[in-house]
Amino acid sequence: MTSNDAEFARAQAVMPGGVSSPVRAYRSVGGTPRFLVSGSGPYVTDVEGRRYVDLVGSWGPALLGHAHPAVVDAVQAAAARGLGFGASTPGETELAELVRDRVRRDGTGPVERLRLVSTGTEATMTAIRLARGATGRDVLVKFAGHYHGHSDGLLADAGSGVATLALPGSAGVPAAIAGQTLVVPYNDLDAVRAVFAAHGDRIAAVIVEAAPANMGVVEPSPGFDAALAGIAHEHGALLVLDEVLTGFRVGPAGWWGIDPVPFAPDLVTFGKVIGGGLPLAAVGGSAALMSLLAPLGPVYQAGTLSGNPLAVAAGLATLRAADDEVYARVDAVAATVSSAASAALAAAGVVHAVSHAGNLFSVAFRDARPRDYDEARDQESFRYGPFFHAMLDAGVSLPPSVFEAWFVSAAHDDEAVARVLDALPAAAQAAAAATPPGQ
Ligand SMILES: Cc1ncc(COP(=O)(O)O)c(C=O)c1O
Repeated sequence: MTSNDAEFARAQAVMPGGVSSPVRAYRSVGGTPRFLVSGSGPYVTDVEGRRYVDLVGSWGPALLGHAHPAVVDAVQAAAARGLGFGASTPGETELAELVRDRVRRDGTGPVERLRLVSTGTEATMTAIRLARGATGRDVLVKFAGHYHGHSDGLLADAGSGVATLALPGSAGVPAAIAGQTLVVPYNDLDAVRAVFAAHGDRIAAVIVEAAPANMGVVEPSPGFDAALAGIAHEHGALLVLDEVLTGFRVGPAGWWGIDPVPFAPDLVTFGKVIGGGLPLAAVGGSAALMSLLAPLGPVYQAGTLSGNPLAVAAGLATLRAADDEVYARVDAVAATVSSAASAALAAAGVVHAVSHAGNLFSVAFRDARPRDYDEARDQESFRYGPFFHAMLDAGVSLPPSVFEAWFVSAAHDDEAVARVLDALPAAAQAAAAATPPGQ
């Protein structure tokens, strides 16, 4: 048994599945998950001292790469001043101002006020409670394959780990709560119109991943988010734009900043990059809507660790460093790696399609880019495990599920990119040689 295997066995004896979050267990790709001990720039190192080019990026936050010196310095300095006070700190205001100012387009933006929380799950949960409080309505519309965290009402037909484990939802969610969520197919405005026509006066909000990346990447059809805002507003409902994954990753102002058709979300959620790798997320909106939150209004929300000074320091340092050069590099690396992956798979004769949402991308083993969850699931996903393991053996760590985006960073230098490109042809051959389960 290798020391990594021993580490996994020890973890399984004390933690369900040996993990703190399900997709880390490698269930859909098989094998033993790597236990990591450090990361630097584009690399992570496991307990056996093996170094990998990392294309997981902590599932999004690591826009600058691992242990970026400016972020580490800021966190160390904050730690020396105290780990947390349960009181307001100037850094929180600075971060809120920075987010408000970044998320602007043509001088206007959707964030006048921001509430800091610790996870993306809390951010979307708070946004929904706010929408319900603001409208006096209960029903929520979400899209199949979209993931907004693990709160009760949002797990129906969810992406990410729920998709990886092929679950329709989660046990333990009361039927009364699940019954308040209506799930519609993505990229299908007729389905959205139909659900609003039938239930419009009961719908508090529609929540959408700004550009979905938790069923693999699925490209929004042009003007989709704008049309959604229009339909919701026509019926007195709100649009909650979930930028937990896309925010400050696909560009300085997230997807909202690069969507070709401008639109007006009512509430926006952030996570991942905003915390620079530490637990921090946020929900933002107009002053009027956000004033409904306690202590100003009747919608309650709170957190012992909300606005934690270390997380705020990491977020501030990350956003300050995330300039145009950083986004240009992330975009360029994403373009190089995605086209090389496609070329390698094509050369090996593997039917595939690569989907992009800004610098987020993923590979689907089907002949056309998926437009919704049904199409995303309709692929030869058995090819991904052998592909993943061939990459891992060659020193490249991909997300351990075909339903996740590949995350690159500004720290992926030419040497790291070359290692990925070198590994792709053999991995593509492994994908080509894969056989469906049971054959
Ligand atoms: C779009 C989106 N929303 C919400 C979440 C939940 O965030 P967290 O895992 O921090 O609770 C995620 C996590 O992957 C996400 O991708």
